[in-house]
Amino acid sequence: MSVRSIIATGLLAAGAVASPQWGGGWGYPKTVTVTSDHTVYKTVTKTGSCSGSSVTSFSSSSSHSSSASTSASASKSGSSSGSSSASSSASSSTSTVATTTTTSASNTVPTTTLLATATGHPLDVAAKAAGKLWFGTAADIPGTGEAQDPYWAAEFNSTDFGEATPANIMKFVFTEPEPNVFNYTGAEQFLSFVEGTGKLVRCHNLIWQSELPTWITNPTVNWTNATLTAALRNHVTNLVEYFGDRCYSWDVVNEAFSDNPAGAYASNVWFDTIGPAYVVEAFDAATQAVKAKNLAVKLYYNDYNIEYLGNKSYAAQNLVTELKGRGIQIDGVGLESHFIAGETPDKASQMANMQAFINLGVDVAITELDVRLNLPPNATTEAQQVLDYYNSVAACVAVGDGCIGVTVWDFDDEYSWVPGTFPGQGYADLFLSNGPNEPLTRKAAYDGCLQALTGAPESA
Ligand SMILES: *[C@@H]1O[C@H](CO)[C@@H](O)[C@H](O)[C@H]1NC(C)=O
Ligand SMILES: *[C@@H]1O[C@H](CO)[C@@H](O)[C@H](O)[C@H]1NC(C)=O
Ligand SMILES: *[C@@H]1O[C@H](CO)[C@@H](O)[C@H](O)[C@H]1NC(C)=O
Ligand SMILES: *[C@@H]1O[C@H](CO)[C@@H](O)[C@H](O)[C@H]1NC(C)=O
Ligand SMILES: *[C@@H]1O[C@H](CO)[C@@H](O)[C@H](O)[C@H]1NC(C)=O
Ligand SMILES: *[C@@H]1O[C@H](CO)[C@@H](O)[C@H](O)[C@H]1NC(C)=O
Repeated sequence: MSVRSIIATGLLAAGAVASPQWGGGWGYPKTVTVTSDHTVYKTVTKTGSCSGSSVTSFSSSSSHSSSASTSASASKSGSSSGSSSASSSASSSTSTVATTTTTSASNTVPTTTLLATATGHPLDVAAKAAGKLWFGTAADIPGTGEAQDPYWAAEFNSTDFGEATPANIMKFVFTEPEPNVFNYTGAEQFLSFVEGTGKLVRCHNLIWQSELPTWITNPTVNWTNATLTAALRNHVTNLVEYFGDRCYSWDVVNEAFSDNPAGAYASNVWFDTIGPAYVVEAFDAATQAVKAKNLAVKLYYNDYNIEYLGNKSYAAQNLVTELKGRGIQIDGVGLESHFIAGETPDKASQMANMQAFINLGVDVAITELDVRLNLPPNATTEAQQVLDYYNSVAACVAVGDGCIGVTVWDFDDEYSWVPGTFPGQGYADLFLSNGPNEPLTRKAAYDGCLQALTGAPESA
């Protein structure tokens, strides 16, 4: 697997450039419009409950992946392409050579593009052959409208992906927008799309500091330890019991630890009111719900900058030990893996870290893998990106059954959260396109993942 084209094209179109709407901050597109001349695509208008004020932004950190995880994807507003040749039978991608078209000169950045040679849809097939449960992807359904993009949908539906993680729609602001008023309409939309394809689901997430409704972040009566703990437990209990075993696993607590100082608990409404006990309470409530309904669903802690040994990973390891010591269920740790090309822990470092968790009696999973780079990409950074994807997937393969699978944080730059969150960076996903409802092109990073899954050496 070696011959690849490095071709100068105008591939890097609007979708990979930071959308002004996102302005370097973090938030939701309120309106996502997708158009096509073949199908009636609807305009998705988000409810008021996810307007900017109720969604807390994060302050990013430094080091390996200075990310604060979970995402909203790039808005498609204003980038609707009227020239789509979309049809639902279109194949998701071609290999080897990009058939490129360019959009208007003003939003086209010339670049070299290192493309894949693999054909078919082998990623999840190869992952299963390697003993993994899946190669999966996040999907922002209904959020970005990507499911109505026939090229995105055909690729999502393919055997490249055996698992899907809802990027946003199961988060607190959507599922409990008012106190004890649960809204599963959007989550059911996600699940009906995913379950139709037979994929497993990592449900995401129960307790996090972001994407919270205002009744949590700005209550009319100040929270006390007791009242907020009750609200937390009620949320966890309801979601775990409602979704049951339709979830393979739940990310029970997301990103509890800080980067500065690394491994301290992060300040947020939960920690500031309840203290470290909030994490224990969340896992305890989930454990009780699992028992009450006799579920098989697995309970995970999920975080970033815990993909290599260091104080933040040690904090997560200590949490596993503490929960197990209390007789509370924890089955796995999610290693988000939002990486930067060239600043990514190597394979041995990732293996050592995975093994440290596995030795505590939990599984690990790579849960949000993407590898962003400075725009525009060039031959050097693209080759580095291939190696970085390879190393993460190869580490998961090499540690054996304890690493259950790899999930990328969406697969198409068009819908990536990166450009809107890290201005000047992008190109983080396995595929690129000229815009919504345009054919996908497979990057060499795809081959890097496949080579790792099949035990082949990396050869970008
Ligand atoms: C529930 O959420 C859906 C979409 O996520 C929204 O359309 C609907 O208005 C919400 N229902 C209520 C009662 O808020
Ligand atoms: C993908 O699968 C879903 C069912 O889960 C289906 O509704 C949709 O039409 C499929 N799309 C494509 C392009 O295959
Ligand atoms: C609620 O908390 C705020 C900020 O901590 C404080 O200023 C205010 O006095 C509190 N209100 C009540 C009624 O305790
Ligand atoms: C909140 O209550 C829990 C349970 O009683 C306790 O373990 C924890 O220390 C309390 N937190 C604070 C900040 O007092
Ligand atoms: C890790 O934590 C230890 C104390 O627990 C501290 O001495 C050390 O400076 C920390 N290392 C880093 C890199 O923050
Ligand atoms: C490629 O991009 C990187 C990151 O922006 C930059 O440091 C490097 O100089 C570029 N290399 C070439 C050959 O342009």
